[in-house]
Amino acid sequence: RNTLPVPNRQQDRTAEEHASPSLHNHGTFTNTPDSDPSLAANRLWAQEIADQIRAIREYGPYTSLEPYQIQTHTQLNEVLARAQQAAGTWQAKSLQERAEILHRVGDELARMRGKLAAIMGAETGKTLDQSDPEISEAIDFAHYYAQQALGLGDHAPVVPLPRDITVIAPPWNFPLAIPAGSTLAALAAGSCAILKPAPQSPYTAELIAQACWAAGVPKEVLQFVHLDEGELGAQLLSDPRVDQVILTGGLETAELFLELNPDMRLFAETSGKNALIITDSADYDEAVKDLVASAYGHAGQKCSAASLAILVGTAATSQRLRDKIVDAVSSLVCGYPDDLATQMGPVVEVPGEKLRKGLTQLEPGQQWVLKPQQLDDSGKLFTPGLRAGVKPGSEFHLTEYFGPVLGIMQAPDLATAVAWANQVEFGLTAGLHSLNPSEINYFQRHIQAGNVYINRGITGAIVQRQPFGGWKASAVGAGAKAGGPNYLLSLTSWRDDYTVA
Ligand code: ALA
Repeated sequence: RNTLPVPNRQQDRTAEEHASPSLHNHGTFTNTPDSDPSLAANRLWAQEIADQIRAIREYGPYTSLEPYQIQTHTQLNEVLARAQQAAGTWQAKSLQERAEILHRVGDELARMRGKLAAIMGAETGKTLDQSDPEISEAIDFAHYYAQQALGLGDHAPVVPLPRDITVIAPPWNFPLAIPAGSTLAALAAGSCAILKPAPQSPYTAELIAQACWAAGVPKEVLQFVHLDEGELGAQLLSDPRVDQVILTGGLETAELFLELNPDMRLFAETSGKNALIITDSADYDEAVKDLVASAYGHAGQKCSAASLAILVGTAATSQRLRDKIVDAVSSLVCGYPDDLATQMGPVVEVPGEKLRKGLTQLEPGQQWVLKPQQLDDSGKLFTPGLRAGVKPGSEFHLTEYFGPVLGIMQAPDLATAVAWANQVEFGLTAGLHSLNPSEINYFQRHIQAGNVYINRGITGAIVQRQPFGGWKASAVGAGAKAGGPNYLLSLTSWRDDYTVA
């Protein structure tokens, strides 16, 4: 990660230029490119974003959340009643109409690229090299689900019937792509969406709502509600009018949701404790680049992040590989996203007990290769942590810390490495770096994870190409792959409609 990718001004097309490219794209879907860092003009643009991040952090966001504040049970009841009433009108629209509105949402988001990057940086500490691909992903969700919506009519004799109300409970760590993807999927499937943002990133979510409304989604069909997660949150999750809930968050949150309402139809993508396995037949330079990006991108605050590096065979004892890892990790520039030199930003909040433990405490047999240092008084900015000697079955092996700390495990052979990767309760992402076909084959047959990557980093799933969702405890409720072919169908109720003419 020696260069800082910066947005491409050329992507900030005018409304006229932007109105059609996605709309003539009904037949084929193509991923939106990330911004091109090689263009000199983009450095100015990146600097503007950095300046905006600083301004927002200093003076606050440009908008207010007051209009969306839900403070009473009566207000929340009205939100649900509005959604229930609007469902029929939304579902009466043809699939083409719904798809065109979704394509326009993609266009709106593309136009807002700079604004989105600034607010994401200010709210969650995301650096531009992290927010830029996330914006591409959100745009991709819009165009992909638009295209998928058109296919909903192609399942005769089965008819996918829309469910009226979907509640979206997104996380703060992907403050744009996850809420946008979940909301757009619900809308594409014919549902009214109630988007309740994560408390840490409501302003990014508000821009999603703005993009949807500007594109023609009626305000009753997508409602943006800013409410307290306590009693009102419980009311929302327990209301029988809510047909389904899309949650992305920790496993404990999914369990809490089901405790609140055991009958809930829940689509939850939860936690991960993900390993990247490196064998002695890997290209070490490529492996280290992908490991560092997967472990420390957004300061490790991704359910998909690598938090175990399992080195196999002679790779486990290779000084050359060890040196490359240490050099790469220790050279990461830590800071805030309003400084373009920053490669690893802060964590979103002062660490709670679990992450603090991950950043400070070793277990027997473990050593710090690089001990995390707190860099300022905020309590949120750390240097990356790297610990060696992580043993199978240890707390570090099995716990998701959600922060900038990576543990090295040394396995005698690939079978052991895969067994250790599978030993965790989660099964979200996993990766192998190896140029040996029989190792690749073994890994593919035995690894237990929803997103499996060979010779690539293990974060940053690409819409359509790498539909995202996990196995085991990484998925609670109806496991479905976001950005994949079964997602919209899973959000509908199937019926055989057979008429004798
Ligand atoms: N979809 C996100 C990723 O793949 C979580 O990193």
